[in-house]
Amino acid sequence: MSSLQSSALARVKPSATIAVTAQARKLKAEGRDVIGLGAGEPDFDTPENIKQAAIDAINRGETKYTDADGMPELKAAIVAKFKRENGLDYTAANIHVAPGGKPVIFNALVATLNPGDEVIVPAPYWVSYPDMVLLAGGEPVTVVGEEKDGFKLLPAVLEAAITPRTKWLILNSPSNPTGAAYTRAELEALAEVLRRHPHVWVLTDDMYEHLVYGDFEYTTIAQVAPDLIDRTLTVNGVSKAYAMTGWRIGYAGGPKPLIDLMRKVASQTTSNPASISQWAAVEALNGTQDFIPERKAAFEQRRDLVVSMLNQATGITCATPEGAFYVYPSIAGLIGKTTDNGVVIDGDSTFAAELLNAEGVAVVQGEAFGLSPYFRISYATSDAVLEEACTRIQRFVASLR
Ligand SMILES: Cc1ncc(COP(=O)(O)O)c(C=O)c1O
Repeated sequence: MSSLQSSALARVKPSATIAVTAQARKLKAEGRDVIGLGAGEPDFDTPENIKQAAIDAINRGETKYTDADGMPELKAAIVAKFKRENGLDYTAANIHVAPGGKPVIFNALVATLNPGDEVIVPAPYWVSYPDMVLLAGGEPVTVVGEEKDGFKLLPAVLEAAITPRTKWLILNSPSNPTGAAYTRAELEALAEVLRRHPHVWVLTDDMYEHLVYGDFEYTTIAQVAPDLIDRTLTVNGVSKAYAMTGWRIGYAGGPKPLIDLMRKVASQTTSNPASISQWAAVEALNGTQDFIPERKAAFEQRRDLVVSMLNQATGITCATPEGAFYVYPSIAGLIGKTTDNGVVIDGDSTFAAELLNAEGVAVVQGEAFGLSPYFRISYATSDAVLEEACTRIQRFVASLR
């Protein structure tokens, strides 16, 4: 009998982060005391002015189809955002809006990849990049940003990975899962490599732009290297910065020929993102930005708490990342140790499974992000929960022999 699953989908793994979240939810439903640190979403609520804009849109009857890749009012708000925050000169013809950052990226890949086309994906990577490339018919080429290099892609590593088949480089700063963010100088050095390879396009996923800490200054590659703007897609969205994960609005700025192709994909698949969510996103981008610094300060404090408590767990070392709401601690010091019930920690998948089993703390194994032996913690939850979770991790680690 022929397989129900298409050969394209057979190449794809289900999302590991969604799987961890689902497993934690299941154990909780069974009455276990579980702390889920797997989900990548802010615990804050969507700000009131944004909710009100959506309610007003419903009451005005803004409940019809819009243009497939976003309504003019939202595109205008995005053009203004790119100008105000990134110094980028896009017009409405350069903007694509979709139901989340995820479909924006998928639309770009589907619109441009042919079988055999390569996409350079620096690891540790957000779980969806390689699988979206596969689903779109391309070949992900993984390169590693080592911990000693702040988990960032080095120019020489990029240079060595480029072939005549390379179509895209994907950048993600600040990064999910490491929180690493590229400085202006680091982006300039990558741009220098890209200048030597005019056939390579850059997709930069700036979803965590607003979450950078200390005196780190956020920049994006099209700003640092304006000469690359004709082959750069700058992806962003309201999910993380505005605590709007459930509303499903992501967007991108890019060259018109690419944006036209992406619109063609959207017009035959999703059509427009929800009209009501689009009005909410207009308010998110045009309305007050006052809550962002407050929330950012809360995240920074949580980052410091988690990094400090993890570094007190013998065998775990945790670097301090520049941004996002993730840390990516190493468990190199725990490999070969044995749990109370006789399981040998042979890698990060076993570590994550045993931690969940022993202490009810759900984290995601580094294997899912393309670099072991590490695990990812999302610290987008309250200080009290984080303290309890880190205490349990310390206790689990201390129990290993
Ligand atoms: C790096 C990165 N890009 C994109 C997304 C997707 O965002 P959205 O929920 O808007 O689809 C996420 C969400 O986890 C992410 O971490």
